[in-house]
Amino acid sequence: MRAVLLDAFRRPLRNLRLSVTDRCNLRCSYCMPEKDYVWLPRENILHFEEIERLVDVFLDLGVDKVRLTGGEPLVRRDLPALIARLAARPRIRDLAMTTNGVLLAEHAEALAAAGLHRLTVSLDTLHHDRFRDLTRADELDRVLAGIATAAPLFPGLKIDTVVIRGTNDDEMVALLEFGRQHGAEVRFIEYMDVAGATHWSWDRVMPRAEMLARLERHYGPIAPVREVSSAPADRYRLPDGAVFGIISSTTEPFCEDCDRSRLTADGMWYLCLYATSGIDLRRELRGSGSPGELAALIRSTWGHRRDRGAEQRLASRDRAPLIPLERLRRDPHLEMHTRGG
Ligand code: GTP
Ligand code: 5AD
Ligand code: SF4
Repeated sequence: MRAVLLDAFRRPLRNLRLSVTDRCNLRCSYCMPEKDYVWLPRENILHFEEIERLVDVFLDLGVDKVRLTGGEPLVRRDLPALIARLAARPRIRDLAMTTNGVLLAEHAEALAAAGLHRLTVSLDTLHHDRFRDLTRADELDRVLAGIATAAPLFPGLKIDTVVIRGTNDDEMVALLEFGRQHGAEVRFIEYMDVAGATHWSWDRVMPRAEMLARLERHYGPIAPVREVSSAPADRYRLPDGAVFGIISSTTEPFCEDCDRSRLTADGMWYLCLYATSGIDLRRELRGSGSPGELAALIRSTWGHRRDRGAEQRLASRDRAPLIPLERLRRDPHLEMHTRGG
């Protein structure tokens, strides 16, 4: 039996989001809207062996869910090799990845062969012109091909859609139907004012209640799926049985049950999506830090964790983008694309 490490609010350390690169081949308006970015220095990016050593310490402390994130994880060279090494650890009960899908068609088979358990693809629109406007790249066809290739290889594939009022809120039905064609579960995500979302404003957020009302007008009564889970998505069932999710991190945060933390590609450990400071595990790892010392640092940091970032944001008045651009430039670790969503 492994120890369950609890934070100050009795939330367990279970779910590690592992960013393997801060680079991305898209520029989604809700994540990377600026012209240029300051990247993490290449020499600081953790090697696969270093990632494995850190993951093993987290596994000793109770983590059993690992999700690979980016930037865009598939731009990291040889990613399937890392996945194979992680998949060989039975203590990882759930090994998943979130991708933007651009490189998926060419990598899907290798990912499945390496032993990746689950896959989520981001897709915000089915219109070519909107895709170009939203991501500054003409890559919709490659994403769609990626989904078509990956869906049979990853049963239970998920599709994540950030719903932005005035941009793609009229596509919810089309996206649900698209997901259905591929046997994929679509999750609609409220636009969050995470750092990096420098163009965020309240009037562009479509709250969960409004999403449900929209879908009910089209499909008829929607029923919640009753289940206990620490996952951010609440799931719903359409009258015809199809299931979808809503992640309402902006209007109804789920901090109370949050068991996640995030490791950036250069080994900074953040306890909350909204945290402005993290713990430098790379320094420990490349210095004299033994696995025991790393474990002690992680244990004591998690034990004192009190983060409830999304709830605090909800309570704050006059809400505007979280962090000014100059500060993001000084510390790219504050960016959403550096900490992997
Ligand atoms: P499952 O294990 O499949 O439920 O994965 P997941 O939903 O945790 O993973 P995914 O990467 O698909 O996350 C979906 C979205 O939820 C992210 O892109 C974020 O928009 C949001 N999200 C993830 N983690 C957090 C968090 O800690 N806090 C908040 N407020 N939102 C989060
Ligand atoms: N609001 C909501 N979700 C976001 N993501 C990135 N930025 C935001 C934001 N401002 C999520 C999206 C994207 C994933 C990589 O991170 O789901 O698909
Ligand atoms: Fe878009 Fe993901 Fe790249 Fe951010 S990291 S720009 S959300 S594809």
